[in-house]
Amino acid sequence: MAIVSSIKHESESPKKQRRERLVNANLLTEEVPLTKDDSLRPRTFDDFIGQLDLKEILGISVKAALARGEALDHLLFYGPPGLGKTTMSMIIAEELGVKCRVTSAPALERPRDIVGLLVNLQPRELIFIDEIHRLNRIAEELLYPAMEDRRLDLTIGKGSTAKIRSISLPPFTMVGATTKPASISSPMRDRFGITQRLEFYNAKDLQTIVQRTADLIGVSITLEASYQIGCRCRGTPRIANRLLRRVRDFATVQGNMTTIDEKIVDEALALHRVDHKGLDASDRRFLKSLIDLHNGGPVGLEPLAAALGEDPATLESVVEPFLLQIGFLQRTPRGRVVTHAAKKHLQV
Ligand SMILES: Nc1ncnc2c1ncn2[C@@H]1O[C@H](COP(=O)(O)OP(=O)(O)OP(=O)(O)O)[C@@H](O)[C@H]1O
Ligand SMILES: [Mg+2]
Repeated sequence: MAIVSSIKHESESPKKQRRERLVNANLLTEEVPLTKDDSLRPRTFDDFIGQLDLKEILGISVKAALARGEALDHLLFYGPPGLGKTTMSMIIAEELGVKCRVTSAPALERPRDIVGLLVNLQPRELIFIDEIHRLNRIAEELLYPAMEDRRLDLTIGKGSTAKIRSISLPPFTMVGATTKPASISSPMRDRFGITQRLEFYNAKDLQTIVQRTADLIGVSITLEASYQIGCRCRGTPRIANRLLRRVRDFATVQGNMTTIDEKIVDEALALHRVDHKGLDASDRRFLKSLIDLHNGGPVGLEPLAAALGEDPATLESVVEPFLLQIGFLQRTPRGRVVTHAAKKHLQV
């Protein structure tokens, strides 16, 4: 296919490619106006597509909490970026009919940040803490009694005259979200009554998500075309929505805005060098380098990163997870190995 033959021309600097990656699942600042992203967020369980097991489990817990008039148990969401952790947290607040106070761990550096978060808390409200693995120790130690005993322990004064004053809190639900569950301290992890992983979505569910977004932004698209986007977005709704916007841009400029079909998707994504598996130029450079310079592996991450002029940590967190997920790459005790499926895809 056209994309594969374009590999030879993929010679931009790694930095430039990283900056421009369309298939990066992280929220890009260019996509804030958050209102734009927010307007696409499903607001109810019914609106939230896929993740059926998760919806069933959470639906039962929410119904039970409502029936008993109690706060929902503390809840931890983990999984790769862009799969709906924040969205599901907002839905739960909506379904419980309570407010959600939204913050993230880096904004909770000082005790007064935690106090600000917890004062005036109304019964059964949600507190959503994003990137919860980044909480510092002071923040964690203030949150432990708050989560467990609904008590905020404040130290007043300093040194030998310091006193602890306890303030009682109403029942509330803490919702933590993270892409790095292994980095959460274990006492913090143990305080969540419900822990749920968000999974990558299948192409069918992503097709439905693309159709829904197209409706919301007023774009007409065929079912085949939204399925194509669903196949190329790395199992990730955020990327699906982003690809749809880029395809819409392409169609607008081509003056071909009646209905987006497979041909338009193909042409638009060829321009962005996103192939039919969702691989972009960075992924292909990575695999090609493993094949051409290291005979397909096994090879350690460091020499690979050196050959590509990339930072090893970036390769590990940004490029590798998707390649591992689709079985194009294996991590063995002796190093990274390219699979037969990857070679077949790249036609080498
Ligand atoms: N199940 C879904 N159905 C429809 N749209 C979804 C679904 N899940 C996510 N989305 C869309 O994808 C976007 C990204 O989701 P969200 O911000 O909740 O991801 P996240 O897991 O919190 O990501 P991060 O780890 O970067 O914070 C949302 O704005 C929403 O439009
Ligand atoms: Mg989020």
